Amino acid sequence: MQPILCIVGARPNYMKVAPLMRAFAAAGMPAHIVHTGQHYDAEMNDRFFQALAMPAPIANLQVGSATHAVQTAEVMKRFEPVVDERKPSCVLVVGDVNSTIACALVAAKKGVKVAHVEAGLRSGDRTMPEELNRIVTDQLSDFLFTTEPDARANLLREGIAPDAIHFAGNVMIDTLYLMRPHAVAAAATLSTLGVNLPGKDFGLVTLHRPATVDDPALFADMLRALAQVSERLPLVFAVHPRTRGNIDKFGLQSIVAGKQIHFVPPQGYLELLGLQQEARLVLTDSGGIQEETTALGTPCLTLRDNTERPITITQGTNTLAGRNPDEIVKLAVARLTTPFDTSKRPEGWDGQAAPRIAAVLKSKLS
Ligand code: UD1
Repeated sequence: MQPILCIVGARPNYMKVAPLMRAFAAAGMPAHIVHTGQHYDAEMNDRFFQALAMPAPIANLQVGSATHAVQTAEVMKRFEPVVDERKPSCVLVVGDVNSTIACALVAAKKGVKVAHVEAGLRSGDRTMPEELNRIVTDQLSDFLFTTEPDARANLLREGIAPDAIHFAGNVMIDTLYLMRPHAVAAAATLSTLGVNLPGKDFGLVTLHRPATVDDPALFADMLRALAQVSERLPLVFAVHPRTRGNIDKFGLQSIVAGKQIHFVPPQGYLELLGLQQEARLVLTDSGGIQEETTALGTPCLTLRDNTERPITITQGTNTLAGRNPDEIVKLAVARLTTPFDTSKRPEGWDGQAAPRIAAVLKSKLS
């Protein structure tokens, strides 16, 4: 069997590909990692490879940051020779980042099979770059592995053949269960970061999507909401480089100055796992964190008007809080004062998603 090339590019990809590499090895299937270099800061990249004990990539395309068109085009240009040289049996892409769509398109045009892990998620919001990446990647894929039942319905509606769709469960949760015993305790992380909290209670914040942080008025509203929430619960805000840049660019520091909001750099996987696990509440616009908080049983408020992961609401701990600051504060207070069921878990989020995917690909590719 020719090798499977597994693509990683950006932070949320690593914890999805790590269990797949293990499952392929266990099934005797040759597989390699190709890194596009979309994320390159140590905090966004190297720390994850180390924490997740991932094999080194056979190639790093070093595309770096650029506009969407340039970044996507550069990945395509640099990935094509890798496909020519390695002649893979399949290119496996995960999630919805620019590296995902770029490598899927190169492979499909060369007649190489494409597997998409986390297929069929839809927010219904085509202004989000990730939504366009999801739709196009699914159209190009031969094997579509889903994490939740809604995804199958979405794919069928878009004309995908039913026998190309395989319910696999959630590979990101495979990693979470494997790594949970090694999570770094929140107290240790916070003390390393020099964050002193009066009590042990804290809320965790991550915001990085262009839709949340690129519009100055809207981002200011989000920060005002956080400032109010921080009067009840001190907040630890792990800040993505884009978000940090926009706070400075838009001059929003005064909204959060003097508040119980502790800005810390992007965290490693095991540090963020510990923080998510021990936070009383998580406020985020991340897709992955909606899923991880559901698996951990931590209440999560998603500061968006939509989610491509509705199962985290119906079978998890997530609540769509929208982007109205008053509403966000009201919901945060409710979560802190009113009992809330945190015991539900979606089907197939059981730590065995990657072996299920390996079994399907083994039978289809050999
Ligand atoms: C990308 C993904 C997003 C994912 C996120 C996780 C797309 C379309 N978006 O968004 O879905 O949730 O990764 O983090 O692929 N930067 C650095 N260092 C880095 C990486 C980025 O400083 O290592 C800065 C650069 O200024 C860059 C900006 O962050 O311009 C945005 O990076 P980019 O990879 O374009 O998109 P993300 O916002 O990270």
